[in-house]
Order: sequence, then C-alpha cells, then structure tokens
Amino acid sequence: MKHYSSIHDIENINSWIEEAKTIKANPLKHAHLGKHKTIGLLFFNSSLRTRLSTQKAALNLGMNPIVMNVSGDAWGIEFENGTIMNGNTAEHIKEAAAVVSQYCDIIAVRAFPTLTDKVKDESEYVMNSFMQYASVPIVNMESATGHPLQGLTDAITISENTKKIKPKVVLSWAPHVKALPHAVANSFVQAMQKMDVEFVITNPEGYNLNPQITGNTPIISNQNDAFKNADFVYAKNWSSYQEYGQILNTDPNWMITKTKLGNAKFMHCLPVRRNLVVEDAVLDSKNALVIEQANNRTYAAQLVLKKILEKL
Ligand code: CP
Repeated sequence: MKHYSSIHDIENINSWIEEAKTIKANPLKHAHLGKHKTIGLLFFNSSLRTRLSTQKAALNLGMNPIVMNVSGDAWGIEFENGTIMNGNTAEHIKEAAAVVSQYCDIIAVRAFPTLTDKVKDESEYVMNSFMQYASVPIVNMESATGHPLQGLTDAITISENTKKIKPKVVLSWAPHVKALPHAVANSFVQAMQKMDVEFVITNPEGYNLNPQITGNTPIISNQNDAFKNADFVYAKNWSSYQEYGQILNTDPNWMITKTKLGNAKFMHCLPVRRNLVVEDAVLDSKNALVIEQANNRTYAAQLVLKKILEKL
C-alpha cells in the first residue's frame, strides 16, 4: 500500500483489525520502524482527535511528526491548473506538494468539502492533487467524501466489543444545527460492508447517502424499526446528499435516547453535541463507546503508518 486514501485500501479488514489489536497490546513494539522518518500533518480544517492520535501513532513508531494548520498559517494554495493566479492563492499545489515531500517521508492531509459544489467535492481535488504532485505516500485524515482512519477505528471498536458472529449494526442520522459532511458516514458504511455484520442505515427522507456508496445496504426510514435487536447504534449527522449540503430536517425526535438505544452500544466519532445528537443519559452510560473509539484512533493510525513504513 502506497497511499491510504479510502477504506478500499484495506485488502482484508479482519486481518487489519487483528493486527491493530496486536499493536494496541504492545504499542511500542515497532518503536524503531520510523526512526529518522518524518510525517507532515497538514490541516486545512479543525481537529482534536485526528491531530493528536496521528501524532501519537507516529511517535509510537519512532517518527518525527510536524504539524501545520495550512488554512491559517501557510500561503493560500491554488489547485486549478492553468489558472492566472491573480486572486487570493499564492502558491500552486504542484510546488507546495513537491516542497513538503522534501521535508517529509509521509504526508497526511485533512481537507473538508465545500458542501456547495458536489462535482468539485466528489473529484477529491485536494487529496488527489497531493497524491499526484507529492513524491511520498499520502494519508487521508478526512477528505471531502471519506474519513478512512475513522472507519477503520470503528471497525476495530465493534470487533472488540462483540462476541457475536454477526452483530447487528445500525448507522443512524441524527439532528444537527450545522450542515455537516458525509465523510464519516461514507467510510463507516464502506467499513461495515467489508465486515461480517448485519448492517442497516436509518435516515429521514431526503438524507440518503450517495447510492454508489450505500449499494445494497438496507435504508430504513423508521428509526425505531431500524433499532430493533441492534447491538451497535452509530449516530452521525450529515447534510442532504440529494439537495447537496442542505439542512432539510432538524426533527429532535431523531435524537438518540436511552429508551431508543435499549441494550445496544452507542458509537459516535466525536465531537458530538449533547442533547441535540444524543442525550446525556446515553453518553454518560456504560453503553457509550465513544471514548474507547477515540482511543482506537491511535492504533488505527499506527497500523496504517506501519504498513506504509514497511513499504518505504
Ligand atoms: N473524529 C474526528 O475525526 O475527530 P476530530 O475532528 O477532532 O479530528
């Protein structure tokens, strides 16, 4: 594996999950693999978990992480080819990616979608430009359409928390006040499609995710029906895909409550807005796996970096 850009880069999710568990049991076992190697973490958008867990993962492998808030601290980057750069951008991605490649052995990038231009977002122009113009491997730390480090983390967390051969997993849309990307939901869907789980999605009308991603996964419009016999409920808000980037529904009845959850485990990628997406009684209960999920971000990132380092 050269780049880690999507869940599709995982050849065998079960063996990756088992390897991640081994890393978690002994995180410093490969502390020399990344010696004298540098990873550059480039953030076009905010982060808490991804920023810290990916640095932690790199440090566990003996790497030197360097971090930059690109949007705030770097020159404005131009991604269009052939454009006359007489606007706000000062440096082309061709130079920027080539330059950063000289300082780093791996580059990790976070760049959210516009949520206004579906074609541009789906072209994944930021991630693809880095993969085209950098000379080193690229890791996706959440792009316009995917968050594969989160999806891998979620697969690990589900595996750790079930004894069932085929647990029932539900991805539920939940209300939010802001228009949010589809990336986390997309990667979760792709990860669950690779696992041996009974997987359903529940969302209100107008909120079906990209059908090319959901494929044959059942989409149930009645949340209570979807939650029946669930072992895991993964909550996430996303804006409409059809009415691209729009908020069509803020119905508080879609919030995850303790009554709805029953005995199921609750998952969310965080950050989460309490009593909007999910009520306190769920997050403060033993059924909430959110802190464990965030912990697993380190081991998912460490597994990905280890696999890339082994190929350098
Ligand atoms: N879940 C996640 O990616 O968190 P951050 O946005 O804080 O990195």
